Amino acid sequence: MRVLIIGSGGRESAFAWKLSKSPLLEALFCAPGNPGTAQIAANIEINIKDFSLIKSAVLQHSIKMVVVGPEDPLVNGLRDYFESDPQLKDVIFIGPDRLGAQLEGSKDFAKSFMKRWSIPTAGFKCFDSTNTDEGDSYLESLTPPYVLKADGLAAGKGVLILDDLAEAKRELRSVLGGRFGSAGNKVVIEEYLNGIELSVFVLTDGHNYLILPEAKDYKRIGDGDMGLNTGGMGAVSPVPFAGEVFMKKVEERIVIPTIAGLRADGITYKGFIFIGLMNCKGDPYVIEYNVRMGDPETEAVLPRISSDLLSHFIALGEGTLNNEKILINPMTALTVVTVSGGYPEEYVKGYQISGLESDTDTDTDSDTMIFHSGTKMAEGTVVTNGGRVLAITVLDQNIGKARDKVYSRVNRINYKEIFYRRDIGLDLLSFKG
Ligand code: AMP
Ligand code: GLY
Repeated sequence: MRVLIIGSGGRESAFAWKLSKSPLLEALFCAPGNPGTAQIAANIEINIKDFSLIKSAVLQHSIKMVVVGPEDPLVNGLRDYFESDPQLKDVIFIGPDRLGAQLEGSKDFAKSFMKRWSIPTAGFKCFDSTNTDEGDSYLESLTPPYVLKADGLAAGKGVLILDDLAEAKRELRSVLGGRFGSAGNKVVIEEYLNGIELSVFVLTDGHNYLILPEAKDYKRIGDGDMGLNTGGMGAVSPVPFAGEVFMKKVEERIVIPTIAGLRADGITYKGFIFIGLMNCKGDPYVIEYNVRMGDPETEAVLPRISSDLLSHFIALGEGTLNNEKILINPMTALTVVTVSGGYPEEYVKGYQISGLESDTDTDTDSDTMIFHSGTKMAEGTVVTNGGRVLAITVLDQNIGKARDKVYSRVNRINYKEIFYRRDIGLDLLSFKG
């Protein structure tokens, strides 16, 4: 199989790493990729917003499978583009079409979908500039904290959680007035869910599905979950508070009705569904759907899959995922993301990174992985090129051992103004496991 991965972050680096292990792989490409993917795939330097350039690359390199990392190309209809082109329609495409991608692209769409199919989620209503006053009344009917969400994609920033009613009313107007651009033309207001968060990942061909290892993400910039929200500062899999009974509830109450609901709505969904969940006293509620894998969750999830992901992808294309068996390594994967000083606000790029080379005294290839996120090559060396720079994953017997090992590896990496959280997995140590 000749495979093209679309994207350039840590998630795509992890896909490249995992797919490169498959005996079914003939050639691997990544567009645009990064210096990490360049070690195992051929990077194709194109602007992935231009679908015609993706088409040219697919034809030029006889690519037979496209795996899409980020949500943007999906929300913008890359799958639809492939399906409607006679030269591309037979390419196996991992990712939903434009309509399916609305599960992530529109909070209103996702919430209405969940309501229609009785999938547990926080109670909600949607408002726009024509009924803002009704939004005020709805806010008054809720107890704080108040949750306001811009309907559209807002680069992960479109959710506000506020304690004060007057502030919530003000922010409702500010979001409708353009605080997040056109993403805020509609605003979903919803009940606050009290619980512990985790993410569950599903791969589906529209009928059959595989449930991937679950993960916990660390979203805030600072230790102890303090400070600004980021794309994700670390991840742990498995999640000790997602036991067998809980995961069974997730499958029966959420995964099965989601796939059946999509089908009943006329959407043949072929790709990943990332379900952001709240565990509220042992019961799962959906916070959000994403139509792709998470970053950095992928960097913790894929190292725990011991079966052949490429074989699962091929089966997805053929609609035979029911014949596939996913094998999951019971060990703990723990991922720490190193970022540029200042992230998620302003930061400087271009600092030289040292300590990437493996040290055979402490690393064994199989249990320490360094995934590149925001890096590039400059004059023969790897330099920082984004907010999130590297994702370092260790597989070990338990969270304590994985933490010790990952931090001793992270300590050997350096660049100017490097920053990372010291407490990834620390909160989970008190759970068994
Ligand atoms: P979202 O972009 O929908 O995932 O929301 C971002 C973050 O806001 C989530 O990861 C949660 O931590 C939090 N959040 C969103 N909705 C709720 C809710 N209804 N109750 C409590 N926290 C929420
Ligand atoms: N880490 C959260 C996300 O990928 O959306």
